[in-house]
Amino acid sequence: MSTRALMRKLEDFEGPRLVPLRENLFGASFFLMKLLPARFMLERAAEQGQLKPGTTICESSSGTFGLALAMLAVQQGYRLILVSDWALDRHLHRRLIELGAEVTIVDSPASCGGLQQARLDRLQMYLKDVAGSYWPSQYGNTDNPLSYAKVAEQFLDRIGRLDCLVGPVGSGGSMSGTARYLRTLFPDLHAIGVDTPGSVLFGQPSGKLNLSGLGGNILPGNVDHSQFDEVHWLPPVEVFHATHELHRTHGLFMGPTSGAAYRVAEWWSRNNPGKTVATMFPDEGHRYVETVYDQEWLEAIAGWASPLPEGPVTVSSPKEPMLGWSRFLWKRRSLNEVLAVTAM
Ligand SMILES: Cc1ncc(COP(=O)(O)O)c(C=O)c1O
Repeated sequence: MSTRALMRKLEDFEGPRLVPLRENLFGASFFLMKLLPARFMLERAAEQGQLKPGTTICESSSGTFGLALAMLAVQQGYRLILVSDWALDRHLHRRLIELGAEVTIVDSPASCGGLQQARLDRLQMYLKDVAGSYWPSQYGNTDNPLSYAKVAEQFLDRIGRLDCLVGPVGSGGSMSGTARYLRTLFPDLHAIGVDTPGSVLFGQPSGKLNLSGLGGNILPGNVDHSQFDEVHWLPPVEVFHATHELHRTHGLFMGPTSGAAYRVAEWWSRNNPGKTVATMFPDEGHRYVETVYDQEWLEAIAGWASPLPEGPVTVSSPKEPMLGWSRFLWKRRSLNEVLAVTAM
């Protein structure tokens, strides 16, 4: 089998199922969203001669991108070194080992940039030590957002006109890439990014993050701020409740970043009748059975039993302290533009 054919073996897993959630609201439910950018990045790297038989792939990942790389690397015979942290649960860890990945865990945060920076520092050591190694670099590689042209096409084929796209933001690839493509046909598309307090992606002061895949302590190059009309920040407790609601109401057993996107998309859809909305659900719930889907674990979280707000509080600056679900009208501006006019 050619390298290209080998890479395409998992292609059927890449696309989302499009699930109608209510009138004009669709969930794009992925088995593992990161398979799409991972396959695309490796394919392009092979075409450009950066990835050859025997190359070692090195990457920093707290979960789903690493799993996607491991699934692809084992098929194609590449060695894979993954640098991860606490967010790597033991089931996923076992799965990565089963797939032949070499996993290294960093446990102390860097003084600036937290665990994410500590992972990148360790990664640099591997890239230096392992001759000819290749770093896909999901946070900065422009092939990450480019790969989502395929998702935009699937939305067009199966839903048609879209008024609003909602999704969680981590590396920024999925939302920036999908929105950019959809806008070539629907320039008025309203794009909503979902983040969490303490994440620097949309201007919050850096803080402790408890949601793997959502937000970050380092700003990735692949977050294209000028694509976003609106940004919402959801604290973990609200995300976990929403994840359960998605499961109980629609039978969709998804991870917490899907719950976060669902909460915001459902709210926006209710408040904008007649508009067609699609929302990204990036991974399934299996990884979170011992956490987000475990009642005892949830009850130990401060605020778990407190009443939830019906909707977000609209804030006048993304730098404000955010104790609950918050929303800011970003209006497709750059981060610098927003920070300059909302200086506190
Ligand atoms: C489970 C999960 N959801 C959402 C995201 C965010 O997607 P993106 O990196 O395309 O912004 C990630 C990113 O790693 C993720 O792992």
